Amino acid sequence: MTVFWRSRVGTDRGANDGMVGEVARSHTGESRNLGQMARILLTGGAGFIGSHTAVVLLERGYNVVLLDDFSNADRGVLERIQRISGIEIPVIEADIRDELALTRAFSTFPVDAVIHFAAKKAVGESEVEPLLYLDVNIVGTVRLLAAMQRVGVSRIVFSSSAAVYGEPEICPITEAAPAHPTNVYGRTKLVMEGMITDLVRTGAIQSAAVLRYFNPVGAHPSGLIGEDPRGVPANLMPYLCQVARRRHPFLRVFGDDYPTPDGSGIRDYIHVMDLAEAHEFALRRTLGHGGIVTVNLGTGTGYSVLQLVAAFEAATGKKVPYSIMPRRPGDVAECYADASLAAELLQWRATRTIEDMCRDAWRWESRAAF
Ligand code: UD1
Repeated sequence: MTVFWRSRVGTDRGANDGMVGEVARSHTGESRNLGQMARILLTGGAGFIGSHTAVVLLERGYNVVLLDDFSNADRGVLERIQRISGIEIPVIEADIRDELALTRAFSTFPVDAVIHFAAKKAVGESEVEPLLYLDVNIVGTVRLLAAMQRVGVSRIVFSSSAAVYGEPEICPITEAAPAHPTNVYGRTKLVMEGMITDLVRTGAIQSAAVLRYFNPVGAHPSGLIGEDPRGVPANLMPYLCQVARRRHPFLRVFGDDYPTPDGSGIRDYIHVMDLAEAHEFALRRTLGHGGIVTVNLGTGTGYSVLQLVAAFEAATGKKVPYSIMPRRPGDVAECYADASLAAELLQWRATRTIEDMCRDAWRWESRAAF
């Protein structure tokens, strides 16, 4: 993996300081017809969804450049992307708020489009440190969009979240549902959506796809890359995997008194490989059309916490002890997508099952491939 430069917000450096080597051969996959393919910059490309999307794009012949500050990603993921794809890709270590680094990235690697994953994403933390979320998510996106405009890159695929909907009035949730985020994280996503919409409307951006993710889980089937939360995970699947590994004595099921068939909360879990593939469909549309599309990325099917526990036990043979606890503040009873617009506009549908999600999440958690 070639790291081209490292850059930090607030450092005062000349235009070429920190360059490591020249713009070298970025690919080793000699049999692929890469010359004709678009080159795509992935901000946050070493993260959970970014790394899986990088693998999918490389497999489909795109040229990929990763940009990440590694504040919430392990550098080891870079070697593992390379191991899966057989392709060496350029990596830029930089913060999206560092406009100079972004400008240099774009001038060193002219790209056809950006997939913008980089963001702070922990709901609880966003309520404790709102300014950090405003700075990284909103200021960072403004700087990215400014750098794109400066170099004439006018196509973007944006990682948004079902968190923009807040408490849904009706399930399944369509894209036309009112957006009333209930936390700072969700609000930053909605603000960023609005910024991109305005830039498309005013012509500064030619084409955009806004992707509202539901609950991404699972991992690459190789077991080489997956979700790598720092500290104790707040989300269900990584916590459940750690219980199966006996890192915690039991799963706390937050509430069994919701108005759902078994009383536990229902969510739309989507396999990260389905999600990664959806980015390629969205990218294709963005490269070939103008305007903006905003779509839900979910399976359209909800599973309760207790159903997920049962599916995990069946798929892995591992026991997951659990204990019913009070509801978690801020949680809703159910949240699942109407996924039909993505099918219509992107010709994409999720294909992997809840068993696939559990099996692949567990393979990654237990690091079978290492
Ligand atoms: C959370 C975020 C959402 C984000 C998504 C990304 C909140 C309020 N929302 O969604 O914005 O896009 O993660 O993955 O944090 N549960 C347990 N025990 C646990 C953990 C969770 O019972 O230890 C339950 C929850 O009550 C919920 C379900 O599992 O019913 C899913 O929870 P989680 O994985 O945290 O996702 P969301 O809350 O849906």
